[in-house]
Amino acid sequence: MCGIVGYVGDKKAQDFLVSGLKRLEYRGYDSAGIATVSEDGEPTLIRAKGKIAELEKKLAKAKRDDHVGIGHTRWATHGEPSEVNAHPHQAGDIYVVHNGIIENYKELKKELGGHEFKSETDSEVLAALIDSFYGGGKYDLADAVVQALKLVKGTYGIAVVSRKNPEELVVARSGSPLVIGVGNDETLIASDASALVGHTKRAIYLNDGEVAKVKKNSIEIRTLDAEPVSAKVEEIETNLSAIQKGGYEHFLLKEIMEQPESLAETLRGRVDAVDGTVRLGGPGLKEAELRKIRHLIIVGCGTAYHAGMLASYYIEQFTPEITVETVIASEYRYRQAYIPENSVALIVSQSGETADTLACLREIKKQGVKTIGIVNAIGSTIAREVDGGTYVHVGPEISVASTKAFTSQVIAMVMFGLTIAQAKGVKNTILQPYVKEIAKLPEEIGKVLEEVKKPMEKIAKKYASYEHAIYLGRDTAYPTAMEGALKLKEISYVDANAYAFGELKHGPLALVDDRFFEVALLPMGVLYDKAVSNVQEVLARGGHMIVVTNARDFDLPVEHVVKIKSELTIFAPILMNLVMQLLAYYVTVAKGLNVDQPRNLAKSVTVE
Ligand code: G6P
Repeated sequence: MCGIVGYVGDKKAQDFLVSGLKRLEYRGYDSAGIATVSEDGEPTLIRAKGKIAELEKKLAKAKRDDHVGIGHTRWATHGEPSEVNAHPHQAGDIYVVHNGIIENYKELKKELGGHEFKSETDSEVLAALIDSFYGGGKYDLADAVVQALKLVKGTYGIAVVSRKNPEELVVARSGSPLVIGVGNDETLIASDASALVGHTKRAIYLNDGEVAKVKKNSIEIRTLDAEPVSAKVEEIETNLSAIQKGGYEHFLLKEIMEQPESLAETLRGRVDAVDGTVRLGGPGLKEAELRKIRHLIIVGCGTAYHAGMLASYYIEQFTPEITVETVIASEYRYRQAYIPENSVALIVSQSGETADTLACLREIKKQGVKTIGIVNAIGSTIAREVDGGTYVHVGPEISVASTKAFTSQVIAMVMFGLTIAQAKGVKNTILQPYVKEIAKLPEEIGKVLEEVKKPMEKIAKKYASYEHAIYLGRDTAYPTAMEGALKLKEISYVDANAYAFGELKHGPLALVDDRFFEVALLPMGVLYDKAVSNVQEVLARGGHMIVVTNARDFDLPVEHVVKIKSELTIFAPILMNLVMQLLAYYVTVAKGLNVDQPRNLAKSVTVE
């Protein structure tokens, strides 16, 4: 969602702040701003509505050599995107950037009667509150921040700078990530380690309830209760090429095309295709614990939820005596759901920071249920709070629409299911076909992408003028259809919805007319013939259909058939999903829309 950067050191703060904000722009991007302070306490605040490019235009006329400063990209929650609502917010001598939501900002605002508020944001209240404890520089800035935060209800990641003390920054977190980059004669702050790549490899991930006083050569961390914390310095694994487009026009296309390699990373060292077994160390469950599992809850939002749904169909196929329930995190966190004994929860999140998913994790943990993370971002909050986990290791996913993470999340969860089945003594003859296909999947993904990329570009052009789409599938192809529809709607703004084929006659069939096109997924298998009949029903009503199938003999007169030529059958839906990713991509390109940063959306949803 919003992004935070900060700098204190020997170099020009503006340079890092701007380059860092550009890296974080994908998280939230309706406005941006930076505040720097000169050595003699002269502050400069520059903010702009729109992209970072707008901010840069203003900065070109206001270059400063200041060595300390903070910056922010905003994704509006309280108050419209505008210059005055953009961060940093100023109150007295201090400037604050804030990610998260201050829930009791109205009450706090009333108590801060004397302050004249300029914006509609909750964040400005935080600035005024800190300033009220700062006494114009009479008190220590970190102490003032602590006193203010003790009155705050909600979530925050903040960075604060004062014109009275231009040698330090104060940062704090509760619910919104903050990373401190340890450099040589400089310390860098970011809400996402990707902003630090190329500047330093050493990072300290702040925990909830911690505050840090940051200078160019020192970092002092303590809790809100004044307990000193000894910082653990970790290595940032990401490299520069992983966060650049690498010759592709858009990050989305790069990430779609990267899937053979990103899935291979997920599988590395975890699959033995020869003896047909998988080995996952991360979950940390002993054989006896795995054997006892009777129920799996899979929790996620958006694409991660769809990945969970698809994985649940697979896990049920080969794991005996087990029920799998996939839930939407924002719903589940408020449900009074009973979690049966011998349950394990899989917490699925690319970013590892999604607020609703994190809240579910905490609720589930309270009930004493073991939690396993299926996470991409290393060191993220969810990754740190789960009892055990499996990183999917797909590298940074920059485009808002999730693609390579989905593929790897599904397979990581299926591998977890296989681990349970192995422990429960399921025959190798049942499990081996799954493991063998998983091992071949990266290569098959590469082949299919190569084969369908060009045709999909052509097909997409034809459908770019439609405003509505229906995606259809059954069994494993149903959650795949859901993911396909989400991809199309989130980036191309086509009103796309998915239905299980069997539900067609219970409503959606009434929609079929010339305003709609239909995408039908038809994997070979026991339900194939039934799905073919459903396709006929749509055709008979004048449907404009694209059929994606691995059946060689499909010959109905639909507008387009995309044939998946692969020997893989179990995971054919994963291959079909590639077709839908490309369809969404090329429709969006044909419409001339912003592929990587669709309107109103953010990559990492760190507020409820
Ligand atoms: C946002 C992103 C989606 C993502 C979802 C869950 O909506 O735009 O691409 O699937 O959040 O994010 P997570 O990081 O928890 O997987």
